[in-house]
Amino acid sequence: MKLIVNGKVIGEVKKGLKLGDIHDEIEKAGVEFGCTDGQCGVCVCTVVRGLECVEEPSEVEEDTLWRIGEYDENRRLTCQMVIKEESCPVLEIKTED
Ligand code: FES
Repeated sequence: MKLIVNGKVIGEVKKGLKLGDIHDEIEKAGVEFGCTDGQCGVCVCTVVRGLECVEEPSEVEEDTLWRIGEYDENRRLTCQMVIKEESCPVLEIKTED
């Protein structure tokens, strides 16, 4: 499945990958990272396409989203997103308008 971040194609992502593990690549598309373990919330993004192919948020991610006032269906912490399946053609996220 293809990963697109802020309109930039990052590349193919496989089942089981945690986006935090490729934060170096994703940073190049303008996403800011801090802790990379779901605590700080700076990597919050909107999932534009492919949310159904991402694992549900963990308790840590949900807690952080609540704390920073970003708890919403398609708002996620980029660093905490894990690919659940590759059946979606694209996973697209954005942190910029
Ligand atoms: S970088 Fe801190 S929550 Fe993602």
